[in-house]
Amino acid sequence: MAEILAAGKAMERALALLEGGDVVAIPTETVYGLAGDATNGIGVARIFEAKGRPRFNPLIAHVADLAMAERIAHFDPLSRKLAGAFWPGPLTLVLPQRAGNGIHPLVTAGLDTIALRMPKGFGGELIARLGHPLAAPSANSSGRISATTAEAVAADLGDRIRLVVDGGATPVGLESTIVKVEGESVRLLRPGGIAAAEIEAVAGKPLLRGAAAGIEAPGMLASHYAPGAAMRLNTRQIAGGEALLAFGGSRAEGWQDAAALRNLSETGDLREAAANLFAYMQDLDRSGAATIAVEPIPFDGLGEAINDRLSRAAAPRDKTG
Ligand code: TXA
Ligand code: MG
Repeated sequence: MAEILAAGKAMERALALLEGGDVVAIPTETVYGLAGDATNGIGVARIFEAKGRPRFNPLIAHVADLAMAERIAHFDPLSRKLAGAFWPGPLTLVLPQRAGNGIHPLVTAGLDTIALRMPKGFGGELIARLGHPLAAPSANSSGRISATTAEAVAADLGDRIRLVVDGGATPVGLESTIVKVEGESVRLLRPGGIAAAEIEAVAGKPLLRGAAAGIEAPGMLASHYAPGAAMRLNTRQIAGGEALLAFGGSRAEGWQDAAALRNLSETGDLREAAANLFAYMQDLDRSGAATIAVEPIPFDGLGEAINDRLSRAAAPRDKTG
């Protein structure tokens, strides 16, 4: 079983494992990441192996600072502006790679672009100490809900990895927002921990939406966030035996008969709801109910990303995700 070490005590052990080409689960402000040295093919391969992830899914490379990012990729002025506004933080930028940047091709699945992000906290320090970027997808088995606590990581991956660094519950609770600058425009590839409107305010223009030509971001596989239970969204009425994922102050009809109940935010706060989302989906899944009914969640702010994750969790299951 993986050792769980508090972030304050884990730095040397994490460094030793990464330098030896092994993987380590680390806290970030969004969700826990399963990190390996992005320049070490063995380390990157072990990420895919531990997650059971299809090889064609490219990973995000995490950097310690802008200088490291600029050694890896070419920044256009708009991407630099977005990095300046949101890094460190839950924004991932897809950029053209620089030749000879040392990134192992498994990280990018052979693409000529790379997804870059600068995380807050332990991860940032770890990358600076290692001196190499870390490839890190969310620390969960492929196709399962992302982990927002060290305990959730250990329960899922504990028999396949050696160390989980415990930084407590992740404050944002949703994966990063992924964007790509295309000429004068910015395309939203994945809604996430930074609301689209905040990015639009900095970019000074509305985001393009929908997949660009070329790669479908594999986080976009329909069933990417599947719990074991079926999901029924936007419900105002629940059937006996269903578990209820609630939001806000007024309950769906029949809520008294719910097999289990979690409220993402009693006060209707979307940030609080985002932070609770994955852990509460897991709780309700563990209740054994065959269906999780979900109350309507508004689409504004972080509601876009919350609804995105919920609709993926509700989609027909697909074995490749
Ligand atoms: O918050 C996060 O982003 C977390 C933490 C650990 O940093 N990481 C995360 O990684 O969510 P992952 O691997 O679960 O999702 C990475 C997403 C995938 O949807 C992948 O397809 C997309 O990034 N991606 C990676 N490289 C890309 C590229 N070159 N072009 C387009 N999409 C890319
Ligand atoms: Mg993931």
